[in-house]
Amino acid sequence: MLPRNAFASIRGARAGASASARSLSTRASSILNALDIPTTSEVPGMYDGQWRGSGDILESVCPTTGEVLARVQSASPRELHEALEKSSEAHLVLRKLPAPKRGELLRQIREALAVKRDALGALVSLEMGKIKTEGIGEVQEFVDICDYAVGLSRMMNGRVVASERPGHTILEVPNPLGVVGVLTAFNFPVAVYGWNFSLSFAAGNANVWKPSPSTPLCAIAVTKIIADVLERNGLPGAISSLVTGGKDVGEAVVNSADVPLVSFTGSEAVGRVVGKAVQSRFGKTILELGGNNASIIMPDADLSMAVPAVFFGAVGTAGQRCTSTRRLYLHRDIAPHFLDALQKLYASVRVGDPLVTGTLLGPLHTRAAVGIYSNAVQRLRENGAQILTGGQRYDEGGLRQGNFVQPTIAIPNSAEPTDAIWGTETFAPILNVGIFDELEQAIAWNNAVPQGLSSSLWTRDIRHLGKWIGPEGSDTGIVNVNVGTSGAEIGAAFGGNKSTGWGRESGGDAWKQYVRWSACTINFSDAAPLAQGVDFST
Ligand code: UN1
Repeated sequence: MLPRNAFASIRGARAGASASARSLSTRASSILNALDIPTTSEVPGMYDGQWRGSGDILESVCPTTGEVLARVQSASPRELHEALEKSSEAHLVLRKLPAPKRGELLRQIREALAVKRDALGALVSLEMGKIKTEGIGEVQEFVDICDYAVGLSRMMNGRVVASERPGHTILEVPNPLGVVGVLTAFNFPVAVYGWNFSLSFAAGNANVWKPSPSTPLCAIAVTKIIADVLERNGLPGAISSLVTGGKDVGEAVVNSADVPLVSFTGSEAVGRVVGKAVQSRFGKTILELGGNNASIIMPDADLSMAVPAVFFGAVGTAGQRCTSTRRLYLHRDIAPHFLDALQKLYASVRVGDPLVTGTLLGPLHTRAAVGIYSNAVQRLRENGAQILTGGQRYDEGGLRQGNFVQPTIAIPNSAEPTDAIWGTETFAPILNVGIFDELEQAIAWNNAVPQGLSSSLWTRDIRHLGKWIGPEGSDTGIVNVNVGTSGAEIGAAFGGNKSTGWGRESGGDAWKQYVRWSACTINFSDAAPLAQGVDFST
């Protein structure tokens, strides 16, 4: 889902080249001040126990106003190398701490995050553009996964396996991996690191975070909170290193032999490159790539719940969640009524500054994303789609400064899933609608796209439910019933199948990826028999 031009905000300037004082709006400066981010000078964008950065300058641009929020000093190649070295050393310290002690540190990080929840949530809105309740919700996800990982720190259990040999026992033992590289996307600039860091830290790993180049301030604010706890406890800061930067920084992390696990959230195109690169050096990956998520509405669905859920799924976060609803399959019997009710909600959407209470639709994250939205709408029109609502930029009044686009509902002229319109993820609030007659047809359409992240069926009929979650049902990683495609809780493993990358983060068994497993056969007898009864006696 990461736009290919995600590196557009990188300027070729070197740090220090233009550090003149800027005057920042009060709207921005009050938020940055609350999080100890400098507002009058360039902001150091790398941390490995020390804050610095002498690489290229990243500009953080507010998607609502176009204001440059900060100029961030990214990591130079040498500094990146140092950060990786320091994190490797930090891991040697962390791995000696008993896991419940690591849990206690996570508890302190959780408390520190909770204290800053509102300020950090506001920064997410300011820098990424999602509305404040969602910005705060994202910090809450980090708090929640910390809670989960505190518990996990006393439950990362291995196994005792029965041995076929007398006086023998077999243990399956989890141990830390070393350094985990976490490459995150702009759309969840806080939570995605949270899901990875919490589990990885509980498992005993040091972490190197390479955030999206367009949301460096969120990463800096989170790292300050974590670093403060680590330093207070006399631990090396490089347990949670930060390396802001562009493609070269990401590539260096991905290609480093010192990083046994790379967790990458972003586009399918970049994910393919990352996956191959890490595989070629026999590293491990967690890939969270594209989503092209469908909601299916059966005629017996409770529409008073289904319509608002589709509205949130398609319009929430301005369609910039991996889990956003992009395809809507309506049963013919309820289609006109459903679309009527949905259009009424679209007409009522309050668009504007995401920091203002009551706003439901903020801007797209970048100018480039507006172009991607416009191209997708144009492609729909050229292919004879009916645009029921939306299809334009908002460019009147104050909205002109920001990347605001109208949420769009389209009925493509064919519901054939092989059509590129259905198979392509556009990271914007565009909802394509198809009409079906039988559940089997809708499930086939749901499964026909390359991506496999989330899907949702609306029904009151237990037979439909059984089919949907079983072997003939949805092939996505998240399969919901009477719940929209987006907004998953942290308790279950989060992730998608097929071209979404098969990665799993957050709850469930996801923690098992952040450790190396050893099968240990232990002989406490006075004989040394071979397995399978093999006789090798002389
Ligand atoms: C993403 O869009 O990358 O399920 C993550 C959800 C959120 C996470 C989305 N909890 O919508």
